[in-house]
Amino acid sequence: MTTVPVTSQQQRLPHPPGPLGKWPQGVLKQFQDEPLATMMKMFREYGDAIRFRAVLHFYGYLFFHPDHNKHILQDNNRNYTKMPHPSLSLLQPVVGNGLLTSDGDFWRRQRRLAAPAFHRKRIAEFATTMTAATDTMLKSWHSLTKNGRPLDINEAMMHLTLEIVGETLFSIDLTREADTIGDSFSAVNEEIARLTGIPFADLGLRIPFLPSTRQVNNHTAILTQVVHGIIQERRQSGLEAEDLLGMLMSARDEDTGEGMSDQQLHDEVMTIMLAGHETTAVALAWTFYLLSEHPDVLEELEAEVDGVLNGRLPIFDDVPNLRYTTMVLEESMRLYPPAFAIARWGNDEDEVGGYYVPKNSVITMSPYVTHRHPDFWDAPERFDPQRFTPEHKAERPRYAYLPFGGGPRLCIGQSFAMTEAILLLASIVQQYRLTLMPGSQVELEPLITLRPKGQLMMTLTAR
Ligand code: HEM
Repeated sequence: MTTVPVTSQQQRLPHPPGPLGKWPQGVLKQFQDEPLATMMKMFREYGDAIRFRAVLHFYGYLFFHPDHNKHILQDNNRNYTKMPHPSLSLLQPVVGNGLLTSDGDFWRRQRRLAAPAFHRKRIAEFATTMTAATDTMLKSWHSLTKNGRPLDINEAMMHLTLEIVGETLFSIDLTREADTIGDSFSAVNEEIARLTGIPFADLGLRIPFLPSTRQVNNHTAILTQVVHGIIQERRQSGLEAEDLLGMLMSARDEDTGEGMSDQQLHDEVMTIMLAGHETTAVALAWTFYLLSEHPDVLEELEAEVDGVLNGRLPIFDDVPNLRYTTMVLEESMRLYPPAFAIARWGNDEDEVGGYYVPKNSVITMSPYVTHRHPDFWDAPERFDPQRFTPEHKAERPRYAYLPFGGGPRLCIGQSFAMTEAILLLASIVQQYRLTLMPGSQVELEPLITLRPKGQLMMTLTAR
């Protein structure tokens, strides 16, 4: 008699509860139409760990508890990779095998090479560029205040953060390309978000005549041209800058002495260009929206900024003193985490929160949902920066708040982004009050990042 080998875990552990939907379509469509509302609904109905049927016999796993986040991202991180997660595979035609999407020893080496560009000392040097670029933008706002014309704050922040990434990490002026990059990245973003969750959509993207493939390929080609331009310009100029691009270009393999291939250089530059600007831009855009809706918080913020800066531009050494400014940003990213979902592929079977998770499982964690977990956040929908006083922070488990992820794959740009967001917010608040245009319908658009849907029009009043 033959027996089917069954592991001890399989025998012991239950599957997480969750919806199966109607055969054959499962609950995939709900996910695609309204990912945030669907995850919140499932969280309320089934709790911290969920197994749902996406379509046919494909299942997905959701984990929302801080302990589960910690297990997957940190304690047992070696079991959980990025690839071949279907959503992340969809990103690969755009960012290739860059830091965000690579795994294993290859990823470790690339991360080690890139890390010095993000050291505290470098970020302190970047601070001057960050405030100078903001100051130039604020001067251009004078004419808007005179004419009473509103401004799309999301677009303004996208341009500013792209300019800063270009100057600090690649020593290049990207202002002329800002619209091209913005439009192409938005188009790719929308297409990828539409395909997310559809089984084998990543394979579909390899079929050149499909409309989705054409859309993604055309816009990726435009972005690739920008990236080639960045690399070419550096090669031709002979500039030996110690920025991220310089580090990547001069890196040599310890064993072979070979430099990074052009393709790999392209993938890393593309990854940083995209991951390094949109996330911070949407975090700032949501913050201005929240401040416009909460005048009491805005007043306290203005008082801090005026007190600390006394009318001058902020510098890096001001950052630790801008405590309330930091708390406002932290609370804004709690409610609107730019990376609203974190994806992993479970390579081997595992136990998470007492449940069985089989090998080759598709896993999603969600800062958006965990940041609303009622066991860790009182009245979760309320905007309240006081949640981020040192005392309150110490009361919560580390993984109840994870806008930058965690474990070895923690965002490499976390300090860069926080420094930038604090300096930009303080500089802007010091000079202008931003008010949401009356009658605006503000909606969430969860693409790859959590954007405001359409434009976020605000009027400016000089202070
Ligand atoms: C508010 C701004 C930002 C947020 C909320 C954010 C969020 C995140 C999150 C959640 C991850 C982890 C993803 C995962 O585990 O799957 C991540 C990774 C990453 N982020 Fe950020 N990020 C921000 C800004 C930046 C900036 C400014 C840069 C670069 C200049 C950057 C570059 C990256 C890269 C390269 C990775 C992949 C790191 C790795 O896996 O080694 N991010 N980010």
